[in-house]
Amino acid sequence: MISNKMAAKINEQIKNELYSGHYYVSMAAYCASLDLQGFSNFFIIQEQEERFHAMKFFHYLYEQGHDVKLTGLDQPKTEFASLEEVFDLAWKHEQHVTSLINGLMDLAIEERDYATQNLLQWYIGEQVEEEATMSGLLKKIQQMGDRGAGIYMMDKELAARTFTPPAAE
Ligand code: FEO
Repeated sequence: MISNKMAAKINEQIKNELYSGHYYVSMAAYCASLDLQGFSNFFIIQEQEERFHAMKFFHYLYEQGHDVKLTGLDQPKTEFASLEEVFDLAWKHEQHVTSLINGLMDLAIEERDYATQNLLQWYIGEQVEEEATMSGLLKKIQQMGDRGAGIYMMDKELAARTFTPPAAE
């Protein structure tokens, strides 16, 4: 059984993960408005990743005998200046999520909550990948220029991205 304080923090993190998905759908919409369907697909798939992250916490809370309590999501940004800005913001957002996961780990260590520490190890590894994905794409976009020919090649590649639930990998 985990503490009520930890359960409240995990509830908050479920919202944060769902918000990440909401934010990425907004980025998907911007990419679609530029007719970059591959980039749009990238963010649509990213939303599925975020839902998976949220639901992993969801199931954990019930396993630990606590209820999930959802709250409303904030309005995401809907106007973007460029593809480069989108990926810069996505990268910064992932760095923010990493800090939230680290905050949960700090609490789990403070409370000597070993079960939650074990769960959070998975998220810590996942965040390394999430940050690397966003910063890698940002660097490519910066090298190619926002509307350069390489962008259309990237768009084709990103159109092929699919979601595989991590447990099934
Ligand atoms: Fe749930 Fe993109 O971190």
